[in-house]
Amino acid sequence: MSNGIVNGIVVAVDGPSGSGKSSTSRGVAARLGLRYLDTGAMFRAMTWAMLRDGVDIHDAAALAARAGAPRIESGTDPLGPTIAVDGTDVAEAIRTEEVTRAVSPVSAVPEVRARLLELQRRVIADATGTGPGIVVEGRDIGSVVAPDAPVKVYLTADPAARAARRAAEEGGSDLAATEQLLLSRDKIDSSRATAPLVRADGAVHIDTTPYTLDEVVDQVVALVRAVE
Ligand code: DC
Repeated sequence: MSNGIVNGIVVAVDGPSGSGKSSTSRGVAARLGLRYLDTGAMFRAMTWAMLRDGVDIHDAAALAARAGAPRIESGTDPLGPTIAVDGTDVAEAIRTEEVTRAVSPVSAVPEVRARLLELQRRVIADATGTGPGIVVEGRDIGSVVAPDAPVKVYLTADPAARAARRAAEEGGSDLAATEQLLLSRDKIDSSRATAPLVRADGAVHIDTTPYTLDEVVDQVVALVRAVE
């Protein structure tokens, strides 16, 4: 590669929920033969483990004390990503409303973030050391997890469009309630002290509202090809 990167590429995709991050990231990874990491699923898996163990999700000290306990494993095939906690497949369990409501306070705890940062960096090192690279999606990928990523994208979409996408993913849940929950999560995710959701330095902003998924994938693929 002409950008001086010897190993595989890292594509950092950040943005609020419902902005199209997951579908875009998986589409880009599949198109380019890259691995895919959903860091939101890791925060959800950590949250699922805390709820399983009866930890009070409003007790930051209790969350911090347990942050090292669960074994969280992410499978990085963009066509079939997996997520497991202590050997249990939690792909469905982490999408329940109970987990969705609890995930922002759990994600705000620095010890939780430090533990997952270590896991995320390990997955990225594996994918870039032995393969062509990885698309990583989350809130702080371009700013904290992989600040040297040669391609950084910041996706947004109108709140109504985001709520409609999320409600469809969740099998037709109530639109107004979904929008409310999205906005309250945005607020916590953007205002926390450690690694808040921000547009990273150098990130290309794409407002996905007027585009189809394929069109957004095309735009990100073009950014990746431009650095190759
Ligand atoms: O992408 P998602 O909605 O599944 O993410 C769930 C939560 O995880 C989100 O509300 C904030 C948190 N998160 C985070 O704090 N940092 C990341 N890199 C990814 C997700």
